[in-house]
Amino acid sequence: MESLLKSTAERAVSYLEGLSARPVRPGADAIARLSRLDVPLPDRPTDPAEVIAQLDEIGSPATVATAGSRYFGFVVGGSLPAALAANWLASTWDQNGAIVALSPIAAKLEEVAARWLLDALRLPATCGIGYVTCATQANFSGLAAARHALLARQGWDVEAQGLFGAPPITVVVGDEVHVSVIKALGMLGLGRERVIRVPVDDQGRMRADALPPLDANTIVCIQAGSVNTGAFDPAGAIIRQAKAAGAWVHVDGAFGLWAAAAPERAHLVRGIADADSWATDAHKWLNVPYDSGIVFVREPQHLWAAMAVNAAYLVHGDVREPTHYTPDFSRRARGVEVWAALHSLGRAGLADMIERTCVYASRFADGLRGAGYTVLNDVALNQVLVSFGDAETTRRVIAAIQDDGTCWCGGTVWQEQTAMRISVSSWATTGDDVDRSLEAMIRAAESVMQTA
Ligand SMILES: Cc1ncc(COP(=O)(O)O)c(C=O)c1O
Repeated sequence: MESLLKSTAERAVSYLEGLSARPVRPGADAIARLSRLDVPLPDRPTDPAEVIAQLDEIGSPATVATAGSRYFGFVVGGSLPAALAANWLASTWDQNGAIVALSPIAAKLEEVAARWLLDALRLPATCGIGYVTCATQANFSGLAAARHALLARQGWDVEAQGLFGAPPITVVVGDEVHVSVIKALGMLGLGRERVIRVPVDDQGRMRADALPPLDANTIVCIQAGSVNTGAFDPAGAIIRQAKAAGAWVHVDGAFGLWAAAAPERAHLVRGIADADSWATDAHKWLNVPYDSGIVFVREPQHLWAAMAVNAAYLVHGDVREPTHYTPDFSRRARGVEVWAALHSLGRAGLADMIERTCVYASRFADGLRGAGYTVLNDVALNQVLVSFGDAETTRRVIAAIQDDGTCWCGGTVWQEQTAMRISVSSWATTGDDVDRSLEAMIRAAESVMQTA
């Protein structure tokens, strides 16, 4: 065990050290070599050192360098040193985070990290928290709590009776709602298409003046940070109307909620703390390893009612049992890395990481604008949308940037415009990375223009 773990740690360190020099996207040869893994189940045992050697030698070159400092696709953070190291130790512990009896340390760290999260994100201190796999699952869990609360108010026990014959619930979303909310609604029996879509403005923000009539049977899903533009729905105006009607407000803040932690960006989340439930990710902007999402519910009893389990073989005391707040039962102790990340950064380090990445996003926008390209969004957060001309040209530039390998950005079609998305979400990105990436982008765009 000892020599295996030490040599694996060495492999991990050299992997990380090599990231800066290799193309962000794995080469075709590395992907072709994956076919070597296509072997039948071995009949006999293999030496663990050989298993790991194969994993590293075939697997490492076929990774996307998302742990490096020049990956700007989707919304992908890296892993902070303390978070990665805590993940190793927690894997070594092999703790099951479901119940206190299975892991006092996991439960304790979740509790401490919960208090720190509520503090950093400026959410009500009374919230119930669940550590889930991702923002999709956090949206699911927050909306499950909403479904419970709205129907319980009408005397309907949805967990016991299901939705057949239940009073109808109306769900209101912005027209640029993230697909994960729609998926969660489908999983909850609330219907992917049974939603009222509210028109959005030129940044993708839900228009508060276009809300339909709301009532106490309505869930309004707002967004803190659009995956395209980074824009925030106007929480104050929407939540005021929702509260007056007795509706529930759920916030999808997969990455945008973290703006609360940076004093210069906190104005973007103004009013959001008045909602009823919130979903976010730690594996995006907090930069912890996958998988790590978090759900917050103002009145914890609703999350508990939606998620709690009861069985004679479970120990029940007056302690908080993590499994009563998540869809999972057995699961890894993912609060460990959240605690480690927050501990290592502190309030100041967290604010700096959020602010720094936003400043780098503006630097990208300024650089590309300066080179004559069109930035489509107001860059108020860490997301940039850039057009290099018509749709075909933009697609060709994106492909050329990905081929070049200095950095990686993906594409999108937003409000009928084809664009490249830049998301600066990694703790590891430096000003030099931004400048090198800008150079590569402009070089790729110019070469595409020359061949047009
Ligand atoms: C606004 C928003 N909501 C939800 C999600 C889904 O996050 P996850 O992939 O962690 O489920 C994303 C992912 O980018 C997002 O940007």
